[in-house]
Amino acid sequence: MQAIILENKKIINSYYKMKLSCDGILRPTAAGAPSPGQFMMIKVSPHYDPFLRRPMSFYRIDEKEGVLEILYQVVGKGTEIMSELKEGDSVDILAPLGRGFSIPEKMERAILVAGGIGVAPMVALAEKIRGKGQGARGKITVFIGGKTKNDILCKEDFKRIGAKVYIATEDGLMGKKGTCVDLFRSSEFENPQSAIRNPQSVIFACGPHGMLKAVADIAKDRDMPCQVSLDKRMACGTGACLGCVVKTKQKTEDRRQKTEVYKCVCKDGPVFDAEEINWEET
Ligand SMILES: Cc1cc2nc3c(=O)[nH]c(=O)nc-3n(C[C@H](O)[C@H](O)[C@H](O)COP(=O)(O)OP(=O)(O)OC[C@H]3O[C@@H](n4cnc5c(N)ncnc54)[C@H](O)[C@@H]3O)c2cc1C
Ligand code: FES
Repeated sequence: MQAIILENKKIINSYYKMKLSCDGILRPTAAGAPSPGQFMMIKVSPHYDPFLRRPMSFYRIDEKEGVLEILYQVVGKGTEIMSELKEGDSVDILAPLGRGFSIPEKMERAILVAGGIGVAPMVALAEKIRGKGQGARGKITVFIGGKTKNDILCKEDFKRIGAKVYIATEDGLMGKKGTCVDLFRSSEFENPQSAIRNPQSVIFACGPHGMLKAVADIAKDRDMPCQVSLDKRMACGTGACLGCVVKTKQKTEDRRQKTEVYKCVCKDGPVFDAEEINWEET
């Protein structure tokens, strides 16, 4: 469908926010309304170059206004073209695609771990958790990591939502020195009395592959549920080209063994249970 750009502005350095009027997409269908962790495939130009659409997560979902917002980093040709689009331009998008985060009914605390631009879908997720009345004030904890202070995005969004926010930068000029995984490992999480260790806590993570694997390892050690949003280069976004497959482990019917199954990140994900992923071969 065609979406009209309501706003497209630079936030800092290579980071931009784009607001899109997408009434048709936001009207709940049989498949339900778009949810955090799902994504859109955006055709950045009406011409053949670049030919492929680019995947972008929903940073904010405003069902009432019929507006979807994305938060993106300019890294190459497609995102460069996106950054030059103006208010009133229209873009062709396919959405909502994939499987998003699922918020368990009994969750008492949500722990969001975001590396770099992986923070984008976490804002929509935190807003949904808050909207559902789950995770009362203070029950959403967010760990954000970036290379420098200019790579720490959405801090204010999370504070507005009432989440507790921890920050790490690799150069140490904002928050703790290190990555969001270091921060996550060393924070109150290590405190045996910490509410984060509550068995009803759920970890949600989005960021680069190495970061997700490290978070998955921590979750496994602590026997905590963990959902990860994988980032794979995508061509079709709909499960047709098999360009985005990952190896997953599935229980056999008698549930005694695990068998390996290839799944499409675009259609079966991008959000998976961390335990399901074969991290060694992904
Ligand atoms: C499900 C999903 C959701 C995403 N959500 C967002 C989002 O909300 N905001 C955002 O900024 N980006 C997001 N991305 C990544 C985004 O799609 C890519 O950065 C974008 O497609 C790059 O296009 P380009 O033409 O600018 O870069 P290209 O010219 O295609 O590539 C430039 C550089 O970026 C690298 N690159 C390209 N695609 C990816 C990718 N998927 N992951 C990591 N590196 C890549 C290339 O290896 C190359 O080094 C998401 C990706 C996926 C799979
Ligand atoms: S991108 Fe084509 S199958 Fe996933």
